[in-house]
Amino acid sequence: MKKLAKILAVVMVIAVAASMFASCGKEEPEAPVEKTKLVMGTSADFPPYEYVEDNGDYAGIDIEIIRGFADAYNYDLEIQDMDFKSIITAVNSKAVDFGMSGFTITDERKLSVNFSDPYEITCQSILVLEGSDIKTKEDLAGKLIGVQAGTTGDDFVTEDFGQDAVNQYDKYSLAIQALLNKQVDCVVLDEQTAVEFLKANPSIKKLDTAYGEEQYAVAFNFEDTELLGQFNEYLAKIKADGSLDAIFAKYKEA
Ligand code: ARG
Repeated sequence: MKKLAKILAVVMVIAVAASMFASCGKEEPEAPVEKTKLVMGTSADFPPYEYVEDNGDYAGIDIEIIRGFADAYNYDLEIQDMDFKSIITAVNSKAVDFGMSGFTITDERKLSVNFSDPYEITCQSILVLEGSDIKTKEDLAGKLIGVQAGTTGDDFVTEDFGQDAVNQYDKYSLAIQALLNKQVDCVVLDEQTAVEFLKANPSIKKLDTAYGEEQYAVAFNFEDTELLGQFNEYLAKIKADGSLDAIFAKYKEA
């Protein structure tokens, strides 16, 4: 009898304790999950990576990757469209939290920002007007070359052909316009973006250049190593589960 009473007592204590726990959980107001705001600097003139749709929405490969990341880590993403040449400085001075804009990893940029793991491999192309006598990179000597200011394409041709041979534009759309207006003889730009401009302009032709392979990554402030770690973790996941490939397929085939 005594033993049974003891067991009953123990059971009751456990039950009371359990109900206390349960009510504790209920009574405590649920802390509102505040999203941390994350501001991304980009130059949205770079299809299929970042561009503005007719309805004003941002779209593209970079935009989808980063929206997925923001969702997964509960960030409130804000996109700030700016000239490409200003983004690294903005990341460096914390005017934005990070830069994602088809950024090629370069040693020079590594002095100013931390790069994530790469998510894309590409190279430079040359766009010329149909009927142009430019057939290879070597033919660029003596020509006027359009580039987006501050890009790797800008660096390469300035180094090879000198500053006087290069017209810098803040946006690729302006460089393409200059080509169509015959204000420049060609535009040197990243391969996939060249393909996109080609689709929209039948009078333009694409040549390959001999500039080497480039890898895209996201640029973070040196201090934001936690954010960088989170992004790399997310990137590894979407590389492994096929969702990154699905994003590429969606934007590159259309
Ligand atoms: N990949 C080249 C670079 O890093 C060009 C990037 C241009 N990006 C842009 N969104 N306009 O310099």
